[in-house]
Amino acid sequence: MKTLALVNASQLVTLGGPARPRIGSEMDELGLLRNGGLLARDGIISSIATSDEIKRTAPDDAEFVDAGERVVLPGFVDAHAHPIFAGDRVDEFELRVRGVTYEEIAARGGGISSTVRKTRAATEGELCRQALKHARWFLQCGTTTLEAKSGYGLSVADELKLLRVIRDLKSRTPLDFVPTFLGAHAVPDEYAADSERYVNLVINEMLPQVARDGLAEYCDIFCERGYFGIEPSRKILGAAKQQGFGLRMHADQLTNSGAAVLAAELSATTADHLEQTQDDGIAAMERARVQPVLLPGSVYALGKFRFPRARDMIDAGLAVVLATDFNPGSSPTPSIPMVLSLATTHMKMTPAEGVTAATINAAYSLGRGGNIGSLEAGKLANFAIFDYEDYRELAYYFGLPQTRSVYVRGEEVVALR
Ligand code: NIG
Ligand code: FE
Repeated sequence: MKTLALVNASQLVTLGGPARPRIGSEMDELGLLRNGGLLARDGIISSIATSDEIKRTAPDDAEFVDAGERVVLPGFVDAHAHPIFAGDRVDEFELRVRGVTYEEIAARGGGISSTVRKTRAATEGELCRQALKHARWFLQCGTTTLEAKSGYGLSVADELKLLRVIRDLKSRTPLDFVPTFLGAHAVPDEYAADSERYVNLVINEMLPQVARDGLAEYCDIFCERGYFGIEPSRKILGAAKQQGFGLRMHADQLTNSGAAVLAAELSATTADHLEQTQDDGIAAMERARVQPVLLPGSVYALGKFRFPRARDMIDAGLAVVLATDFNPGSSPTPSIPMVLSLATTHMKMTPAEGVTAATINAAYSLGRGGNIGSLEAGKLANFAIFDYEDYRELAYYFGLPQTRSVYVRGEEVVALR
């Protein structure tokens, strides 16, 4: 048995608390242990205590990790990302800088379609290599679990290809993935004249094959004008639910189409984005216990200013989650610390609420609240040591590498010294 003894954390941010997502004022409580430490046996936390207590009780053969009076947090859980794609969209980025909008670029055949063309042309090996680069970036930013969506294949064969890449990544990087099927990300060009045929393809061919091969836990959809409206979204997500998938939704990002209300009607696990969601959507999500996943990186990177109403959602008792939305178009950042900077500065979430949203609440939104998202006995020893004494510095400083080292299941996977 291998024992790891972490000692001398200026603050051990445990997030210990009730075994459920945190709501209201609970989001401000981090279960902070000053001068803390932990013991982990074979990658599982066995005790949380003061550093002195850990030093007293650690077995002789324990491997000591000295946090050096720095802050230690659970590994971040990023609950919304599109990390599997070929190429980039740097050219479109420059166009946007020069004044063309995201929606105009999509209407000209760019946007999601351009990444679909490149991703279809790439082999599984090529996609895997690029995804491993992305995985390294996430780990370097302190993320240890990542939700990963398909959605740049948009044919039966190509969607399955992306989901197999996600499955195969698990043995090639310490980053843990939660796979989501996003066949309804956009209507591919070859179905543009008959989008209903594409909806039927998703329902009758893609979903059953993804379910048969056990390649995804969740089904997601881009519910938006010009992509999938309310009715097709209801059809696809209804079918996904029947086939055993949990539901997530890209909802009310560019326009308010009533997608958050639909998420509540379908008892979706999450409704994501929500930049345009109003009181009715917030109230419906509260009643149905839908978790909002807020993605300020995409607001920032699209040069927009309307952030989702995080304060109203927290005050309404929603278990808010923060995520990166990492993707080549609207949010090219793998950094949860960057998201914390945006969420505090522009959405007026407190640093503690931000940390809760990107750890324990995110873990519950992925069905893993019992295993990750907090530092408590029985959970995985996934944690990051940051170059700070106080957790609030995470949201305060921005634009620099912040992790000192990152551990997954008790093993060091990133060391920046
Ligand atoms: O979450 N909104 C839809 N999907 C992504 C953007 C994907 C892309 O532009 O490639 C998002 O913002
Ligand atoms: Fe997204």
